[in-house]
Amino acid sequence: MPQGPLPWLNPVIAHRGASGSAPENTLAAIRRAADLGAHWVEVDVRQTATGELVLLHDATLDRTTNGRGKVAETSYETVAALDAGAWFAPEFAGERVPTLAAFVALCTERGLFANVEIKAEAEREEAVAEAVVTLLQDLWPNAKPPPLISASQPRILRKAALVVPDFPRGLIVRDVPNEVVLAERASGCVSVHPNADLLTKAKTEFLLAGGYAVLAYTVNDPERARVLRGWGVNAIFTDYPEPERWR
Ligand code: G3P
Ligand code: MG
Repeated sequence: MPQGPLPWLNPVIAHRGASGSAPENTLAAIRRAADLGAHWVEVDVRQTATGELVLLHDATLDRTTNGRGKVAETSYETVAALDAGAWFAPEFAGERVPTLAAFVALCTERGLFANVEIKAEAEREEAVAEAVVTLLQDLWPNAKPPPLISASQPRILRKAALVVPDFPRGLIVRDVPNEVVLAERASGCVSVHPNADLLTKAKTEFLLAGGYAVLAYTVNDPERARVLRGWGVNAIFTDYPEPERWR
């Protein structure tokens, strides 16, 4: 088990829940991850036009629900009535877009650790970040290690640092930036989350030498995971979090 800035980190993180076998970012996907034996889940959070925080990856509703249009321009009442499961498979018809609060309750019930990725339109980054971490501060049990907050937008991370300085933070990147850019964008972060396809041994060692845990996304191939682990990558995000796949 990796020690250091995230001693409770598990090397396998369920990406958007168990999104290979259940519709991503739904409670069904979170439950499936727990049932499969995962300990950590990653979810994406967005804010609706009326302020509620919900689990959705895309800026629009189009791909993962039967709705249309931008999440940030749609009321919660409308989002809550959508089907978020039928697109994935008929057996998931009726699955809803969960609230962040419902996600926290399920993590508490199932003993899951969380990585909450905050996504927001450029002009709403700080407001959404504040809303997300304030809710997490209120609802996440004090007895558990706090959720790892991640984002690709540094303004989101800086806002989180101001509101909940004790919550660990991770910077999501596609490719690993140079030292100057990294120091600026990942200031105060405990981890960097690079795209696994672009990662190399040298880039991994560079991040580890900087004191960051390295969490690579999205890895569904066990052979690739073995290579990454050999370089020192601390954890992978995967759509198939069943531990036996990754031994
Ligand atoms: O946080 C890791 C990963 O979830 C980032 O990419 O697009 O799946 O949110 P994405
Ligand atoms: Mg994500």
